[in-house]
Amino acid sequence: MTVIVSQPTLESRVDDHKQRDGCEELVLDGGFVVPATNPSGFEAPQNNFYGNSFRDYYAQTERQKTVEEFYRQQHINQTYDFVKNMREEYAKLDKAVMSIWECCELLNKVVDESDPDLDEPQIQHLLQSAEAIRKDYPDEDWLHLTALIHDLGKVLLLPEFGPLPQWAVVGDTFPLGCAFDESNVHHKYFKENPDSKNPAYATKNGIYQDGCGLENVMISWGHDDYMYLVAKENGTTLPYAGLFIVRFHSFYPLHKHGAYAQLMNEQDKESLKWLHVFNKYDLYSKSKVHVDVEEVKPYYQSLIKKYFPEKLRW
Ligand SMILES: [Fe+2]
Ligand SMILES: [Fe+2]
Repeated sequence: MTVIVSQPTLESRVDDHKQRDGCEELVLDGGFVVPATNPSGFEAPQNNFYGNSFRDYYAQTERQKTVEEFYRQQHINQTYDFVKNMREEYAKLDKAVMSIWECCELLNKVVDESDPDLDEPQIQHLLQSAEAIRKDYPDEDWLHLTALIHDLGKVLLLPEFGPLPQWAVVGDTFPLGCAFDESNVHHKYFKENPDSKNPAYATKNGIYQDGCGLENVMISWGHDDYMYLVAKENGTTLPYAGLFIVRFHSFYPLHKHGAYAQLMNEQDKESLKWLHVFNKYDLYSKSKVHVDVEEVKPYYQSLIKKYFPEKLRW
């Protein structure tokens, strides 16, 4: 099933914003620039909920040991065939019927074990990200909504959606069908992945070709790919960059380290600019800033109405 969505030209707007902003810029590891501060005052805090720097997977805390064990399991179990099976199973969209907002509330039951920074209800993370972006990019309403929905796929952890184990839902994602790049966190555990012994997957590009487009790349299964599937199959009118953010926001080897970049096509490269913008808010809004859910709910419900049907199949 293919759903064609309208695709406004967003490229100029990401550049416009940088100029309009007129503030200092922060160069992320991936080499793209996003504003570091703006007149509304959003600034990236230095430390996470646990007092460590963000995404520090090697700090020796109990939490970090749990995270490492998580990645060991993820790297062993996510194989090409596993992902193929998951995509077929969840493309049925036969698990639930509910609105986007109902899913936001449902997600409150979930805590993400793979995340070294976050230990609070997910709806706060969704709204913190969305509200921070809304302050800095007031005209990009599609980006506010993208932030609100980007983690909704974590409902896969709940019994009525599987439940799937954490390693099949959360954590950084990576392509299958080609060599595992060394920029993947805890790379050593890929040695035990059965795909490592398949010669067809052993080269840098494996079964893919340069410029083939990420659309055609099998990526490890989790909340990202699932939410992308749900949004697309339910006929969202979000622009392509919004869907790209949802699908690839955990693909840190690409958007932080530039690995696998040779697989992108032109549309991917344009969308990646917006993903870099988004990522700053995904990461740094995980702080003790509490958003009043009832106060902001009417705004987000108006966006949901604009870009989604009232009820979606999940
Ligand atoms: Fe996520
Ligand atoms: Fe997130």
